[in-house]
Amino acid sequence: MNTEDIMIDVDHVSHIYTDENGNDVRALDDVTLSIKRGEFVAIIGTNGSGKSTLAKHFNVLLQPSEGSITVCGYDTLDTDHIWDIRQHVGMVFQNPDNQIVAAVVEEDVAFGPENLGIPSEDIRKRVDDALAAVNMTDYAEHGPHLLSGGQKQRVAIAGVLAMKPDCIVLDEPTAMLDPKGRQEVLQTVHKLNKEEGITIVYITHFMEEAVTADRIVVMKNGVKLQEGTPREIFTQVDTLKSLGLDVPVAAEVAAKLQDKGMDLPKDIITNDELGTALESVFHKGGAQ
Ligand SMILES: Nc1ncnc2c1ncn2[C@@H]1O[C@H](COP(=O)(O)OP(=O)(O)O)[C@@H](O)[C@H]1O
Ligand SMILES: [Mg+2]
Repeated sequence: MNTEDIMIDVDHVSHIYTDENGNDVRALDDVTLSIKRGEFVAIIGTNGSGKSTLAKHFNVLLQPSEGSITVCGYDTLDTDHIWDIRQHVGMVFQNPDNQIVAAVVEEDVAFGPENLGIPSEDIRKRVDDALAAVNMTDYAEHGPHLLSGGQKQRVAIAGVLAMKPDCIVLDEPTAMLDPKGRQEVLQTVHKLNKEEGITIVYITHFMEEAVTADRIVVMKNGVKLQEGTPREIFTQVDTLKSLGLDVPVAAEVAAKLQDKGMDLPKDIITNDELGTALESVFHKGGAQ
């Protein structure tokens, strides 16, 4: 593959923390992974599997203990380019309240570009465009504390967008949200991926979210255990369950019905696919 097509290249990376007792914790263990420009990659794995540690390497909040990471063509160990990388790769974290710093939504979104030294007339346009992209224009002059969790996360995403990133890394952005907020955030992120071509790295423990990605990476004990399309990953219901991971409800129900002898396609992972397959089974049954 042409190196220009690669957004993030992780080459045999290990990360070793030192815990409070002075012991080594190998949070990442020889991980190799490429993320292409324009891709939407989900990372899943149980608690402590190294997902956040990996994500923090993507905008140089952490650096590898062993191996190397190239982001937008820059080696993250090359300290001259840390700020270039951070401009290209924005991060969104779990807790929206920790990410919003200003008392008014539009001021919060302006914070990043102001720090970059962007001229004020350009900042106005960037803020307006970013709020429009996350569908929060009507709230520009509101106080963030009155917003729902989903709205706050969309403001946090707008703050990253105002930096004009090539890639956004979201670390469990919906973990603290209600179902409606989760839906809003996931839809927003997909729209940015499709319409603006922004590369998305999306960490989640909601399998219904992961199933919407182009590709899924499965982490376990700091190791990249598997990667593949949602269909390749989620049709291995027993393997994922044995790892302590969920699968989308549709995949699990389909697998159970197959165990009971129902003749269903082997690759069902979405509710729509399950619905269509069941309709066809019942339709056949009714016609007999
Ligand atoms: N600052 C730290 N110091 C020591 N150990 C850490 C630190 N941060 C994370 N860890 C350990 O590294 C491992 C991976 O953690 P993390 O990347 O947060 O996993 P995940 O995001 O998948 O839950 C865990 O064993 C965790 O306890
Ligand atoms: Mg984490």
